[in-house]
Amino acid sequence: MNILLGSDHGGVDLKRICKGHLEGLPDYVVEDIGVFSEDSTDYPVVAHRVAQAVADGEFDRGILICGTGLGMSIVANRYKGVRAALCHNLYTARMSRLHNDANILVMGGRVIGVGLALEMVDLFLTTSFEGGRHQRRVGQID
Ligand code: RB5
Repeated sequence: MNILLGSDHGGVDLKRICKGHLEGLPDYVVEDIGVFSEDSTDYPVVAHRVAQAVADGEFDRGILICGTGLGMSIVANRYKGVRAALCHNLYTARMSRLHNDANILVMGGRVIGVGLALEMVDLFLTTSFEGGRHQRRVGQID
């Protein structure tokens, strides 16, 4: 599975930690489009790039992190075929896959702790879509 990571300055620390975590696991190819510093930047620029790449099928999944996750999720969900899930706990991370077939995980770097974030990433990447009635509903989105 190939995964594209992106953040603004509000998510740069958590992104770096997520990247290190994923690079230590055998099943993932990880690419990071930045940002790489805490200098103030515009979250839509990064969110557009990750969402477009996932929408185009260049990456299986995306992970976007800004301060709250709100701005990134608003931008990413404008792309047809993108289902970006702003998650704050293990339940929503798991359900985003089971019921929504989410393909981008969005997190708030100023909202959640590192331990929780890494568990959410693992759940998001290993939980399969349930299909069935949820397939019909996902089909109704676009
Ligand atoms: C940046 O200060 C902050 O607005 C951004 O990271 C994000 O939370 C936007 O939704």
